[in-house]
Amino acid sequence: MTFTPTLAPFPLLRPRRLRQNGWIRDLVAENRLSTSDLIWPIFVHDRDVAREAIGSLKGVDRLSVAEAVKEAKLARDLGIPVLALFPHLSDSIRTSDAKAAIDPNGLIAQTCRAIKAEVPDIGLLVDIALDPYTDHGHDGLIIGDKIANDATVEMLVQQALVLTQAGADICAPSDMMDGRILAIRKALEAAGHQDTMIMSYAAKYASAFYGPYRDAIGVKALKGDKKTYQMDSANTDEALREVAIDLQEGADMVMVKPGLPYLDIVQRVSDTFRVPTFVYQVSGEYAMIKAAVEAGFMDHDKGVLETLLAFKRAGASGILTYFARHVAELLKA
Ligand code: PBG
Repeated sequence: MTFTPTLAPFPLLRPRRLRQNGWIRDLVAENRLSTSDLIWPIFVHDRDVAREAIGSLKGVDRLSVAEAVKEAKLARDLGIPVLALFPHLSDSIRTSDAKAAIDPNGLIAQTCRAIKAEVPDIGLLVDIALDPYTDHGHDGLIIGDKIANDATVEMLVQQALVLTQAGADICAPSDMMDGRILAIRKALEAAGHQDTMIMSYAAKYASAFYGPYRDAIGVKALKGDKKTYQMDSANTDEALREVAIDLQEGADMVMVKPGLPYLDIVQRVSDTFRVPTFVYQVSGEYAMIKAAVEAGFMDHDKGVLETLLAFKRAGASGILTYFARHVAELLKA
């Protein structure tokens, strides 16, 4: 927005007048965070244990399917609109061809069905990528010594179909293969799933901030890195190209990831495209805040709310955050 500065000089204008107490600050606040902005990522495991703590993500547990249904009820009661589901599978299920990713009775498909049977009015977002299913932890199939783009896309299409059939509302491809949005969109249309939404992880950076997540889904030792498919953190114009491509291929919403270190990208994407733009406050960001609080460097709730408001200020329509439940409880109180 551009405007002619017609601001009166001091003492006619004293900006502190509008900061003098809580009610006036609330009245003039430019941005607000609400529970309807939150997407809550949860981890589901295939073991017969209701909850299991994740060492690197204090306060986040891996859940059994039954426990995930309970969390879905809680989320619905708190007003959280969407859950994002991530699997932690036993090692024996992870293979080089990632075939468990397209199993109609796989863990995430089962979880979708179980949640939709009991909590039909909560949105379910599923991650479309192979990393929880491969024995090497990469998001794609490895052929020769490369991540094979087109063979991976074929798998992602099957994964999206299987999970949509199981009840997922939003497919969120997080793999960064080229052409996957178009392929998934065409397949969904052809199968009669014209209402299934796609939230593309459009600008996803190769980041050091995903460490705790890999622990959460049980990736032991990733061979190499993800730099041949995830974006270089040096780039910002490239993020706009990635978003443009995904929108042209049929994405309904886009995402920038990680969050705080990429706030400039969130702002550029939302300013440029004016489409629903989401941001993922990733596991390493969560863990960093927890560590700072534990060390006594920061107040937990103030720090968390400040980071989430920063995303809103940058133009995010909503935020994927492991703090979602806690923040929804805070906003309710
Ligand atoms: C991979 C995927 C990742 C996350 C979500 N989906 C990690 C990665 O790309 O290695 C990260 C989430 C987080 O760190 O909280 N498909």
